[in-house]
Amino acid sequence: MFCLSLRRLLSFSPTSGGSYTMQSVRGLQAPRKLEGKVALVTASTDGIGLAIARRLAQDGAKVLVSSRKQQNVDKTVQELKMEGLDVEGTVCHVGKNEDRVKLVNTAVQKFGGVDILVSNAAVNPFFGNVLDSTEEVWEKRLGPYCVSKTALLGLTKVLAPELRSLNIRVNCLAPGLIRTRFSSVMWENESALDQAKLNLGISRIGEPEECAGAVSFLCSPDASYITGETLVVAGGGQSHL
Ligand SMILES: NC(=O)c1ccc[n+]([C@@H]2O[C@H](COP(=O)([O-])OP(=O)(O)OC[C@H]3O[C@@H](n4cnc5c(N)ncnc54)[C@H](OP(=O)(O)O)[C@@H]3O)[C@@H](O)[C@H]2O)c1
Repeated sequence: MFCLSLRRLLSFSPTSGGSYTMQSVRGLQAPRKLEGKVALVTASTDGIGLAIARRLAQDGAKVLVSSRKQQNVDKTVQELKMEGLDVEGTVCHVGKNEDRVKLVNTAVQKFGGVDILVSNAAVNPFFGNVLDSTEEVWEKRLGPYCVSKTALLGLTKVLAPELRSLNIRVNCLAPGLIRTRFSSVMWENESALDQAKLNLGISRIGEPEECAGAVSFLCSPDASYITGETLVVAGGGQSHL
């Protein structure tokens, strides 16, 4: 997935972000590293996307969550608001251009612009059908899935210099096996899980929150000198190219 750190590029009234608020300094609370930022996270009503949306909001960002189904968006917004987080939601199927345009316009309307774009499920011919998939389907369709994911490594390398002049950093997160509904066929069955663990340096599967912290870091001022990189969060599992 992509993490684009913009500088309020789409705002009607650009303001420079990046510094911590005086209020948090005066209150002697640790400054929240994404305070004042607006983050747009696609495919964020479940799994890794939801964990990212929650973490960015916990770190101070205003977050626009989205996915294909209105009821999922409504449930997520309600859940995160109950946790005291500053979120709004809208429906967006990442494969539909009109939805993507609406997504950005909604962020501009509700929050005044976008500083951070986390594109979860950006290009994925496999993703839509996977929840009904058996282990056999996974095996058969893993080829196209891997090709689509590998393309993101190259796209990250190309987009980073292309967007440099706009002050946009582009980085990529490459998760290993993370416990979500999407990957359940790999961990619900004990023998599949044992097999998967053989390839890992840390002998368990990852949790969505372990991806979220890495994304928050990449979007934050702490990563201000990092662009065009792919961060692997895979418990020491070997990369296959
Ligand atoms: N879990 C892993 O082990 C793992 C490992 C490596 C990479 N990944 C990648 O991480 C991403 C997220 O996977 P996950 O494991 O977190 O999945 P997940 O738990 O099944 O969550 C999927 C989320 O994406 C939304 N979604 C699905 N298709 C969409 C579309 N076309 N447009 C917009 N939203 C869509 C779903 O909501 P709606 O149904 O409402 O749309 C849901 O919120 C995927 O790109 C996956 O390939 C996952």
